[in-house]
Amino acid sequence: MAKISILLLPVFVKVALAIPAYGSLAGLTQRQVDDFIANNTLAPIPPPPGPLVNDGLLLVNDPSHPFIQPGPDDLRGPCPGLNTLANHGVRKTLRPTVSEFHFAEFNQYLPRSGVARPDQLVTAVMEGFNLGNDFARFLVYQAHLIDGNPITNLISIGMKTPQTGPDPPAPAIVGGLSQHGTFEGDTSMTRVDAFFGNPAIFNETRFDEFSAFSMQFGVNGTYDINAAAELRHQRLEDSIQTNPELSFQSPRILSAFSEAVFPTIFFVDGRLDNGQLNLQAARSFFQPNKFPDNFFRQPAPVSFPTIQPLTQQLFDKHPFVPGMNNGTNNFIELPDTPALSDFCGIYDDIVNRVLKTQYPNPSGPLLEALQTNLNFLFSAVEGHNCTQAFPFGQ
Ligand code: HEM
Repeated sequence: MAKISILLLPVFVKVALAIPAYGSLAGLTQRQVDDFIANNTLAPIPPPPGPLVNDGLLLVNDPSHPFIQPGPDDLRGPCPGLNTLANHGVRKTLRPTVSEFHFAEFNQYLPRSGVARPDQLVTAVMEGFNLGNDFARFLVYQAHLIDGNPITNLISIGMKTPQTGPDPPAPAIVGGLSQHGTFEGDTSMTRVDAFFGNPAIFNETRFDEFSAFSMQFGVNGTYDINAAAELRHQRLEDSIQTNPELSFQSPRILSAFSEAVFPTIFFVDGRLDNGQLNLQAARSFFQPNKFPDNFFRQPAPVSFPTIQPLTQQLFDKHPFVPGMNNGTNNFIELPDTPALSDFCGIYDDIVNRVLKTQYPNPSGPLLEALQTNLNFLFSAVEGHNCTQAFPFGQ
């Protein structure tokens, strides 16, 4: 037996060395993939940045960040906020390699390719929209752990791509933000449910409904908190009626409710800051993913203390129990899964269920990277008095 392993060893080494930098590991045995990871060092993992030094009102659609349509190879996804940041700015290198990502300085909020390091995402959402530091870290590290590549420390804001480097072994997905069933999920405001088509692209019919609800419920035909409450409720009701595969539970419920509130804050010009988004600006963000002309970000960092009471307000108007459809119009409630108000329960569910399912038994550099990112995530939720979860031990 020992003789066979020795005979096989050179073959594995050869396979590992033969994998190109952006190669897919699909089709290799688990052992070959494990060998590959063991033989490939982790990309450096810069810690998340601290709060902005200058954190006030600022013109963010400025001449140094012009809007440029994404090119054919640039990835964009379901998030109008991140797509907008990637569309504003000048590309420094045409197609950076994985190693260049770790050294290049970008004169832009995000790399135009749509592939970025998590610390770059934190910086981008703070600079471009004035998200508070802890809130930005929470959004980014939960997404990076579930949808990003821990080995290369890169995540796609769109679909799965070889640009994030070789994947860790399955069942890890590294699907990018467009990966359905993670944070991308059903009942979006301006995208269709995955059952009906591509959930990452703008849908005109959905936006018509967004506009109609703003006209009917919002102050002066704007998308405000009342319009948000009614639209969020209607989107769930509509999917219950029409989508046989609807899933509406942790962690999607938290992203759905937060994202219903975001436009009333971050898409409103910071000089106005009145919680009322006009439909012209709404279309600009949701469709071409473009800052309106002369757009200023929020006048002060916006974090959990602002967002959470607003999501609670939406919930209180139309309470619901998480659940899923078993066929159209047959919503099965799942009261044992974390409720929207159970923030620590949702944190725990992301880490102990979703992440653990993708990484049942990580080891070596992969484990090291996951632990590092888990610590970054927990540093963002400490203010909630959650108990730290250790899915892979301490
Ligand atoms: C910081 C990291 C962020 C991550 C990882 C992230 C991720 C996502 C994802 C995965 C979705 C798709 C959810 C769905 O299925 O509808 C989404 C939607 C959305 N995001 Fe983001 N996002 C981030 C920041 C932001 C920011 C800063 C804004 C606003 C300035 C924003 C605004 C939105 C809105 C409004 C939607 C809903 C789109 C719709 O329902 O049609 N996001 N985001």
